[in-house]
Amino acid sequence: MLRGMAAIREDPLAFLATQWRTHGDVVQFPIPSPPTYLISHPDDVRQVLVGRARTTSKDTLQYRALSRVTGLGLLTADGQHWREHRRIVQPAFHPSTLGGVAAHTADAAQRLVDDLLRQPDRAVVDMDAAVMSLALEVVGESLFGHALGPVADRLAEATLTALGEVVAVARMPLRAPRWIPTPGNRRMAHALAELDAAVTAILSARAACGPRTPPDLVDLLLAGGLSHQAVRDEIVTFLVAGHETVASALTWALVLLGAHPSVADRVAAEAMDVLGPDPRTRPAADLGALAKLTLARAVVDEAMRLHPPAWLITRRTDSDLVLGARPVPAGSLLIISPWIVHRHPCAWPDPERFDPDRFLDPGTAAAVRTAFLPFGAGPRMCIGRDFAYAEAVLALAMVCRAVRLAPSGPPPRALPLVTIRPDRPALMRLTRR
Ligand code: HEM
Repeated sequence: MLRGMAAIREDPLAFLATQWRTHGDVVQFPIPSPPTYLISHPDDVRQVLVGRARTTSKDTLQYRALSRVTGLGLLTADGQHWREHRRIVQPAFHPSTLGGVAAHTADAAQRLVDDLLRQPDRAVVDMDAAVMSLALEVVGESLFGHALGPVADRLAEATLTALGEVVAVARMPLRAPRWIPTPGNRRMAHALAELDAAVTAILSARAACGPRTPPDLVDLLLAGGLSHQAVRDEIVTFLVAGHETVASALTWALVLLGAHPSVADRVAAEAMDVLGPDPRTRPAADLGALAKLTLARAVVDEAMRLHPPAWLITRRTDSDLVLGARPVPAGSLLIISPWIVHRHPCAWPDPERFDPDRFLDPGTAAAVRTAFLPFGAGPRMCIGRDFAYAEAVLALAMVCRAVRLAPSGPPPRALPLVTIRPDRPALMRLTRR
């Protein structure tokens, strides 16, 4: 294990994948406390996340580190606190809100497409930076009724910096206390001040214009009888959880399409067919149209299978379990990596191959049900799943309808931070369709 520490710090994802390939579906790490297991068989994973959800918690190093940024928000809370807050915010994710998400995505994606079409042919653009801004705009408009566009760059940077520090804490838990002004603590304080300023701006704007009809996330939080700190924690949670994840999915989808231009051509043809042939015209983008973008959806799914933005899910079990015929005692830390589950040979043939058509094949339905968890599973499953699909599928279709994107330079490699990020800017050379 001591020898493994360097490998963990260097590339935790590669380390976990190697342990799985070497030792199998239940790996116990030689750590004295807490007993720590990597759980990779889809059946065991479902037992932890679904069957035993009531007796597992998020009291883990990973979520404690994340709560330095999000506080006690929906992503990190447990028990009664989590249940109450989930009930308060749930109406903001009712299916009837998805039309609004699609409309805001169409606006933001049209601005991005217009920008791309203004570039000279063969210009090189950083598509990761572009989709980070897009995702922030969509979250801002859809959940907070607030234009985050003008501060998108600063907020995106603050988010990445804060999450970078979260990763540093998770990988090296013994660190100087927060009040000592180390460079890391100063970076974190600066990033948190930026996020808090965004919360203040969102709340002051709402105080000035009053609640919306129907109420959006901010109204629900303000009407929910929560403390100021609790409202702040939820807004930061949704800001962070709601944009970097979608941006990661979109970036990898675009990178993979860059390497598979014939699939990109098919996505473009589908988009022209469903959304209309002229990429300069903002599509109506209602939910009916979204449902017809089946190939774009399959590309998003296949991109998340190969590069699940949330590559690490952890739980503490409060009851004894049997996983893969092995006893796992109460108090253990359970590590689940969707990256590994999405490559499990019991569910996914030829797992390393990029093949979006597998998601269009009815024969894959069982694997999707049991061994596909980009959004987690069970009661703690992502509340923003349908939001994310609406946004990612429509934005991908609109970009592909307008331009061909080819890789410029070597393709980025997966960097497992809080989400799976590209290890360098996702530079792509564009030509108009
Ligand atoms: C492709 C995009 C996304 C991915 C891959 C993703 C992934 C996930 C995963 C895996 C979880 C469960 C974590 C666990 O069980 O430990 C989760 C939870 C959550 N996600 Fe997402 N997410 C995405 C988009 C979004 C969006 C758009 C929002 C908000 C608008 C959001 C908000 C949340 C929240 C609040 C939770 C905690 C839910 C709870 O425990 O009740 N996510 N997400």
